[in-house]
Amino acid sequence: DRPVRRCGASLASNYTQTSEIVDLDWDNLGFGIVQTDYMYIAKCGTDGNFSEGEMVPFGPIALNPSSGVLNYGQGLFEGLKAYRKPDGSILLFRPEENALRMRTGAERMCMPAPSVEQFVDAVKQTVLANKRWVPPSGKGSLYLRPLLMGSGAVLGLAPAPEYTFIIFVSPVGNYFKEGLAPINLIVEDKFHRATPGGTGGVKTIGNYASVLMAQKIAKEKGYSDVLYLDAVHKKYLEEVSSCNIFVIKGNVISTPAIKGTILPGITRKSIIDVALSKGFQVEERLVSVDELLDADEVFCTGTAVVVSPVGSITYQGKSDFTLQGGIRAPRRWRRGPAAVYFTDESPDG
Ligand code: COI
Repeated sequence: DRPVRRCGASLASNYTQTSEIVDLDWDNLGFGIVQTDYMYIAKCGTDGNFSEGEMVPFGPIALNPSSGVLNYGQGLFEGLKAYRKPDGSILLFRPEENALRMRTGAERMCMPAPSVEQFVDAVKQTVLANKRWVPPSGKGSLYLRPLLMGSGAVLGLAPAPEYTFIIFVSPVGNYFKEGLAPINLIVEDKFHRATPGGTGGVKTIGNYASVLMAQKIAKEKGYSDVLYLDAVHKKYLEEVSSCNIFVIKGNVISTPAIKGTILPGITRKSIIDVALSKGFQVEERLVSVDELLDADEVFCTGTAVVVSPVGSITYQGKSDFTLQGGIRAPRRWRRGPAAVYFTDESPDG
């Protein structure tokens, strides 16, 4: 009996959203779930077409205990952000890239996916419906979490007969407790995140459950996050649990190549484009842990972490390697690349 609203072009006028921003402690947001107003939901049966989405109050969903996602992990997620400009208007960061990545991931996981148009439209509608939760300019962002899951019932191992696409949102600040200060990484030499031929290159939910153990151990020891090595040679960088990694040596910026075991990050792609446009040499290739320890500067990129400087790297328990660079290394990025890549279109036109 929850009120349901059809999405559509006239959605903005369906909502009595004031232009007022919610009263929150915007300076101490962190990265946690905040209950917002609405979430978007659309379903798809065996025909592969998603229904027109609905906007429903944010809250729990009913899920069959035999659903594909609960039993066999048939699920994907995305992450993207909306920012408020000083003039109050709202910008989205490259939502069509998330739509495309979800489609690629869905193919790998044998799921139908919303079209790019439907995905972007759903994102805009969800931001509009939760407009008052977009933080004031400069105080964080509204994080959007699109989910695609096999919601239909299965018992034998098979793709689910029904899929659900949801987008919920939460206002967020810095991902790491360090804020914008450099983070401390530990290189993992026991657990691996992905293997060749596996699903490391898509944003499937299982990739994140499988790193929780290494991350928990690292956090207990005081590290910010874990950097994984390749599972074959155990010497080439892959990615951090929550983000991609870059190393800088002189004028060359190197990052592990996308070869199926590393997530093709949208911030990663943006940083590469911006670095090239600024005259840096960018190399996407195998990057060894030795090169990492010899780097001038190291940083991580991701939607949640944005661009996070790395202050120290611990490898094999002994070498506590502290990178040069001050409070906000890498210095070259201080002015921030993000502004270049917002779409022209704001969700509220
Ligand atoms: C994101 O950066 O949006 C992610 O999905 C990473 C997640 C671990 C927070």
